Amino acid sequence: MKILVTGGAGFIGSHVVDAYIAAGHEVAVLDDLSTGSEGNVHREAKLLRLDVRDKEGVAAAIAAFRPEVVNHHAAQAEVPKSVADPGLDAMINIVGGLNVLKASVDVEVRKFIFISTGGALYGEPDVIPADEDHPLRPLSPYGTSKLSFEQYLGTFERTYGLEFTVLRYANIYGPRQDFHAEEGRVIAIFTSRMLAGKPVTIDGDGEQARDMLHVADVAVANIAALHRGTGDTYHISTGIPVTVNELFRKLAILTDYKLEPNYGPRRKGDVFRIALDNTRARRELGWEPKLTLEEGLAQTVAYFRQRVLSTH
Ligand SMILES: NC(=O)c1ccc[n+]([C@@H]2O[C@H](COP(=O)([O-])OP(=O)(O)OC[C@H]3O[C@@H](n4cnc5c(N)ncnc54)[C@H](O)[C@@H]3O)[C@@H](O)[C@H]2O)c1
Repeated sequence: MKILVTGGAGFIGSHVVDAYIAAGHEVAVLDDLSTGSEGNVHREAKLLRLDVRDKEGVAAAIAAFRPEVVNHHAAQAEVPKSVADPGLDAMINIVGGLNVLKASVDVEVRKFIFISTGGALYGEPDVIPADEDHPLRPLSPYGTSKLSFEQYLGTFERTYGLEFTVLRYANIYGPRQDFHAEEGRVIAIFTSRMLAGKPVTIDGDGEQARDMLHVADVAVANIAALHRGTGDTYHISTGIPVTVNELFRKLAILTDYKLEPNYGPRRKGDVFRIALDNTRARRELGWEPKLTLEEGLAQTVAYFRQRVLSTH
């Protein structure tokens, strides 16, 4: 089938594009390359270089390609940027997203898959792992913009009969992750610094915990969502909290890193401990994570090692 992947030049979107093409689908990528790169885009995918805020351009591109499914990964994806400029975050994640959504409805796409976040919607969770019905109380404008867009999908379903699925991701890691970004990329940052023999700083005491999922497993969830999970919201996650100290220790072994970490101040506004229950995705999407943390970290270190070698 014909699938449009917005943000398909980015870290996660590009793996989804690869999986769709491997499954025999025809894929176009809509991306402004602001954080993504052309080198990530599969050579069989058509790249439409557009900003989602360009309403006319987006409408024309979607009308010309006429996708059956739209998979919306493009976003302003950094929490600190949303705090610094909530208006910009909303322009991209809400208004830009609506440009994509409205154009999709106008050409009668069969299904819209929206990528949301599990990590930024619940605040400090009441229970671990938190399920999708946990009370919603985003701490950042980024969380609020993602949540708003989820609400619009309900509206479009009721008004236009749109079929949609929301995937709320945990913390995703793996090849192609940008280690220059400000946050949320703890594995990419630690790995690249350890391989270069540079000091590593842990924010706070390192006992903060996250739900870390390898990007290969995320790609498989996006295949499942093509036909399953209509009208519902799913955590794409492991359900297991891993502390930053544990990640440091595991990565230090894999990279043969001998230095001790530095401990910096705890970051304000960060959730301390979170993991996301994936029971619903297992039951209704028939999806489950396949890679263990050890396998995923080993693959990621191998990727970064290769990159370090190829740039020297
Ligand atoms: N990385 C994570 O752990 C994580 C967790 C939860 C949710 N997500 C969501 O997954 C999606 C992909 O995130 P990622 O980590 O791959 O980040 P990324 O920055 O690598 O990917 C985002 C892509 O969107 C594109 N983009 C940004 N603004 C755009 C605009 N105005 N118009 C068109 N394209 C634009 C970028 O060029 C990039 O290719 C995002 O929606 C993000 O919110 C990511």
